[in-house]
Amino acid sequence: QLMIVTIDGVAASGKSSVSGGVARALGVPYVSSGLLYRAATLLGLEAGLDLHDAPALLAHLQTHPLRLEPLAEGNRVWQDGRELTDELHSTRVDRGVSVVAVLPEVRAWVDAQLRALPSPFVAEGRDMGTNVFPRAGAKFYLTASPHIRAQRRAQERPEDVPAIEAALIRRDELDRVQSAPALDAVVIDTGPLTLDGVIQTILAQLPE
Ligand code: ADP
Ligand code: CDP
Repeated sequence: QLMIVTIDGVAASGKSSVSGGVARALGVPYVSSGLLYRAATLLGLEAGLDLHDAPALLAHLQTHPLRLEPLAEGNRVWQDGRELTDELHSTRVDRGVSVVAVLPEVRAWVDAQLRALPSPFVAEGRDMGTNVFPRAGAKFYLTASPHIRAQRRAQERPEDVPAIEAALIRRDELDRVQSAPALDAVVIDTGPLTLDGVIQTILAQLPE
């Protein structure tokens, strides 16, 4: 699958910004798997469901189908005519999403939607290079220290850096199982790099 590039990494490591930049440079869309986990979480919260209750969540997702629109300028998520995108990065979704993401039924539901998308594209998340697209043409894995990631995310959330850092560390721990880098992924520490520096590093390593 030369037509698929995977960019995985820990929370707030820069996956979606970097994927957007790489995708625009290549003239292809990028696909944010995390947005589907976030949207499933939002629907579960709004319906008052127990986020550990996989059968109830799955049933709700069947009757309220979500659609990911993988645009290069930024991914959008729809539930029928309603756009959920702007509600997916709230603190309450941040807090619940890792509970939903451990459910095997939900993971299978997300994976099926991603595998149905027409390539070429850049796919970002935790397990794009390991589970979902193991035959991708190029694989990358982004890291940065929790403190650096919290400082970056503080630009996008109302909380202060220590609170964000604590929440990121907790989420890394909950996500650890599905977040192992692929053995054939290039690991990039984004800490000392600018956003454009990360994008250029990736573009320079893509096969012809
Ligand atoms: P993720 O998708 O992994 O949660 P984001 O793409 O949302 O991460 O990035 C978090 C923030 O970090 C964004 O505002 C992004 O612009 C910023 N950022 C700053 N410096 C860098 C860098 N060197 N690499 C990646 N992202 C960076
Ligand atoms: O970058 P950040 O972690 O803030 O957000 P995200 O990529 O949108 O992912 C949100 C959550 O979805 C993660 O914390 C994981 O619990 C889950 N996720 C996952 O399990 N597998 C993926 N491929 C993508 C996201």
